[in-house]
Amino acid sequence: MEALEAVLKRHTGPSVVLFSVLFRVVYGLLRKMPAPKNVVLDEFQTWKWRNLSLSMVHSILTGTWAVSSVLVWPETLRDLHYYHTPLSYLLVCISTGYFVQDTAEIILMGHARAAWEFLIHHALVICCFLYTLYTHLYVAGAVVTLFVELNSVTLHLRLLLKLAGATSSTAYRVNKMLNIWTFVAIRLAAQFYLTWYVIKNYSELHNAAFFMCALMTTNIMMLMYLCRLIRSDFLRHVGGKEYAVRNGTHNSKKFLSD
Ligand SMILES: *[C@@H]1O[C@H](CO)[C@@H](O)[C@H](O)[C@H]1NC(C)=O
Repeated sequence: MEALEAVLKRHTGPSVVLFSVLFRVVYGLLRKMPAPKNVVLDEFQTWKWRNLSLSMVHSILTGTWAVSSVLVWPETLRDLHYYHTPLSYLLVCISTGYFVQDTAEIILMGHARAAWEFLIHHALVICCFLYTLYTHLYVAGAVVTLFVELNSVTLHLRLLLKLAGATSSTAYRVNKMLNIWTFVAIRLAAQFYLTWYVIKNYSELHNAAFFMCALMTTNIMMLMYLCRLIRSDFLRHVGGKEYAVRNGTHNSKKFLSD
């Protein structure tokens, strides 16, 4: 493990590129998996389905990895600044690879304009993670940010079920509750812990002002996202059918379907 860590640290750039290529390979494999009938009828929907499946792979992998490493090494939570293990360094490398791959895909597919929120988010994540990988600082902090991927699992599942036209299924209803719960208990909790940590240790941290800005930006994005989620999954429920029709056809090209 130490040897692996040494290699990753010596060749950080190539390692990140290697992991983005690996995610590309997984994407290729996912293309061979069957998709729901109504999805394959439309090229854009098919692309969205595959893309969400790849995001799902990344979220399951990094979310469970991040939580397990905190369970095995609880020091991670206490020292976000200096603490790291070979496995947490590897985790950040892999995740950076995914974000680089995804950013390249957004730009190459020509969705940059429609997905500008994702691009800002990804640019911030890539900046922070590369900083972490090159300076070996805040590896534990990066691990804690990856907790939010557990909530991304339910967020992706929600969109996958929507694409499959299964919004009236029990699975959708159960996932809807789980989604709000993980959003608050995991995503918001992780964000607030990180923000609190930076405020509390502000004077001792390297580049604290930059990380504070990055955190504040993502905090605002998260709260906006939560409002949209509640509006679309809970408040519009009354006119549900009408909304579903509108959402299904009219907005099908919309990138971020609520
Ligand atoms: C794919 O979907 C996920 C989740 O909505 C998003 O984070 C990601 O940026 C999308 N990727 C591309 C290439 O559009």
